Amino acid sequence: MSFQKKVITIERHIIEGERAHPGATGDFSGLLRDFMLACKIIWREVSKAGLVNILGAAGKENIHGDQVKKLDVFADDAIYKAMDHGGHLCVMASEENEDVLHIPDKYPTGKYVLLYDPLDGSSNIDANVSIGTIFSIYRRVSPSGKGTMQDCLQPGYKQVAAGYVVYGSSTMLVYTTGDGVHGFTLDPGIGEFLLSHENIRIPKRGKIYSVNEGNYRYWFDGVKKYVKYLQEEDKTTNRPYSGRYIGSMVADIHRTLLYGGIFMYPGDTRHPDGKLRLMYEANPTAFLVEQAGGRASNGNDRILDITPKSLHQKTPLFIGSAEDVCIAEEFMQGKRQLQPVAAS
Ligand code: AHG
Ligand code: MN
Ligand code: MN
Repeated sequence: MSFQKKVITIERHIIEGERAHPGATGDFSGLLRDFMLACKIIWREVSKAGLVNILGAAGKENIHGDQVKKLDVFADDAIYKAMDHGGHLCVMASEENEDVLHIPDKYPTGKYVLLYDPLDGSSNIDANVSIGTIFSIYRRVSPSGKGTMQDCLQPGYKQVAAGYVVYGSSTMLVYTTGDGVHGFTLDPGIGEFLLSHENIRIPKRGKIYSVNEGNYRYWFDGVKKYVKYLQEEDKTTNRPYSGRYIGSMVADIHRTLLYGGIFMYPGDTRHPDGKLRLMYEANPTAFLVEQAGGRASNGNDRILDITPKSLHQKTPLFIGSAEDVCIAEEFMQGKRQLQPVAAS
């Protein structure tokens, strides 16, 4: 008699997923295995961040003008070093580096492309708030040899896999290869990610909205009206919604995937394209959320359909439960206005 449920490691899950696709070479599972190792190394550092003298700014700014923390640098490096020699990738790009990252000449190149945000929510590090790593994988479009910028600048619908690791009260990996969204919790005792959330489905409509309301003054009218709409009382649509904003996108998206609702970082009068990066933040989370039955938009267009022009371009983002995002889009496009709510 067995007292234990079947334990499925991330490795087993990936290999079984690959087996379902005839012709798979194992290349892809090797790539993900290398990436998981990097995330475990980052997790180890993040989880002892308060113990060692690693907190604090590294004293330089990344190309977005944000202050880079030491752990950002550490995470960026850990991923590059874990991924540069496996022969699975032809090129990489990271939020922390202006240009594409080439595979060193001494190592073979492969057929995949990796884009990553090594540490998301880094302004939260000192407060022991959840942070994360986000990744996005494409098939190369250049024929062979070293990968190019063109390999990196593909629209999000071409992703073959995407996911994130959230370093939180427990550490979780959530990923998709286009066949649903699956969540794994790190068992720190054995250092393995174990399947804990199979086939995550986002509720059709939620009752939480997530946005930095400190930017209210700079919001466009559509955003102001939409947030007002969410704050109105209407029992049939569960309004008013609750507000939750962590300020680590990974953590806000993780909650949105599980509980539903909407996370947004709109454009505003100071920053018409918002703050979040299309290639490192919007595309991978859009792929995940769509795979879970949700929706992701810039207010007008589907995120995954945007043709990228540069590695670090930003985009407004409305992402989460399909019905919530549809309503947000209607407000952004001026197709919906605030209605007087009938007294109950
Ligand atoms: P990163 O730490 O990778 O630069 O990303 C921070 C992002 C994202 O995680 C979060 O949702 C957003 O910045 C918060 O921005 P505000 O402080 O402007 O709300
Ligand atoms: Mn980020
Ligand atoms: Mn980052």
